[in-house]
Amino acid sequence: WASTHISALPQEVMVRLFRYLGPEDLCRCSQVCHTWAELVKTGSLWRHLYPVRWARGDYYRGPPGEPDQDPDAEDWVQNLQEEGRAYQEWDEDADMDESEEACEDSLAISAVRKEKKLLNGMIQNLLPAVGSSVRTLSLAYSAAISSKMVRQILSLCPNLIHLDLTQTDVTDSAFESWAEMAVCRTLEHLDLSGCEKITDYTLQSLSLGLGDLTTPRFSKNNPECKNKLLKTPPSAIKLLDKHSGYPLGRARTALVFKWRPGGRSMSCSPVWVLDPVELADIEDAADWSRREGVAGHSEGRGGILGVQAGGKSCCCRRSGRRSFRTDIGSTYLQQLYGTLGEMQCGHSACCGSDTALRTLKGAQCEPQAIGGSTEFWTKCPSEGESRTDQTGACRALRFLSLSGCYQITDMGLRCLSKGGGLPLLEHLNLSGCLFITEVGLHELVSVCPSLNDEHFYYCDNINGPHADRASGCQNLQCGFRVCCRSGE
Ligand code: FES
Repeated sequence: WASTHISALPQEVMVRLFRYLGPEDLCRCSQVCHTWAELVKTGSLWRHLYPVRWARGDYYRGPPGEPDQDPDAEDWVQNLQEEGRAYQEWDEDADMDESEEACEDSLAISAVRKEKKLLNGMIQNLLPAVGSSVRTLSLAYSAAISSKMVRQILSLCPNLIHLDLTQTDVTDSAFESWAEMAVCRTLEHLDLSGCEKITDYTLQSLSLGLGDLTTPRFSKNNPECKNKLLKTPPSAIKLLDKHSGYPLGRARTALVFKWRPGGRSMSCSPVWVLDPVELADIEDAADWSRREGVAGHSEGRGGILGVQAGGKSCCCRRSGRRSFRTDIGSTYLQQLYGTLGEMQCGHSACCGSDTALRTLKGAQCEPQAIGGSTEFWTKCPSEGESRTDQTGACRALRFLSLSGCYQITDMGLRCLSKGGGLPLLEHLNLSGCLFITEVGLHELVSVCPSLNDEHFYYCDNINGPHADRASGCQNLQCGFRVCCRSGE
């Protein structure tokens, strides 16, 4: 019997084995040798990131919302909030206090410091290699995350689908890359609950990043597109190594693409999709091919995440709506619009804007036009299109929570209404947004045809759209999120 060393196993097999490991073990593996350090940086191993949980010894790395996988919500949130408070009050230069209370505080502080170290390690070592493969990022209740870190992470992860920044201290500057690089085209779930510092600028950046559905690009009647129409689907596609000419990874056998009419999130543009397993293999193979020839290096003692591997509500009740506004709102609005350079209220009805209330008829992506058809469109950028337009707008957002973001105004809602609105949005939480009005809400809702009233929340004092069916304000008894009726 000839013995075979583990290093003789093909890369594909090694990555298959690595898929059974959690982030802690992957971190350890990355410290074994140069080859493993490179293999661990394979994109498919890092689809879902939960650095806040990982820093506290919970190494879950599956998709978000899996049953039985969420930590006990109430205790978990309370612990994180206490840790955050202790960290913010922590004075690095203060004298040592050895009381029991101080001891608890020091445990809380060390948890947040570990989290910060992990986040920095991720930004410096991991995301530059795997960022484009990341689909989920949860930073909810993080006391260590800063706007700068979020900005870096978002620019490194252009294909995010799920982003949770609940109750963090981020500001508008965190989202600059969305507008500049158009990096949130794929975003479906955005939770900014309790991010009190964000304003309309964030919604403006978000809307720009999501793209513009009103730009005609996939129109069947567009003559530029006609000659790119494919009558039959490709039955097999092989990815070849550009040096050797041999097929990459498992593409040695022909891969049959499967047609999903009006596919999942990208229903606006017809796409050919591979079986996810096959796709992961191809992505991995392409990844390795790209790195070929680049001298790998083992990570330092900190591993790829920059830390040593080891160790380990709200209410919802409906109440009578009252017409109730204060003057604080109008003063604030004037200041904000002055800053935005638009001394207008933001309502299309009042401003005489040519973008009056719109419906989805404006959207030109024609999802129904190709349903069940045997014709297939290829991407057809028209002349002079910017990089932004060529990436294809989907405005795939399904979940948006701005609960407690009290600085949001109608101007921000109006930004979201532009570019074709949010055709897939089902869940919208605007609880605690004190400065929005029924006009802004009506304008937004008119371009959100998929909105589910049960998942539509806004201040009880606004007599807005679907008032008798919407779920009202969620922050009435919340205690830590803004609500105009706190303390009643
Ligand atoms: Fe007005 Fe909660 S009822 S914000």
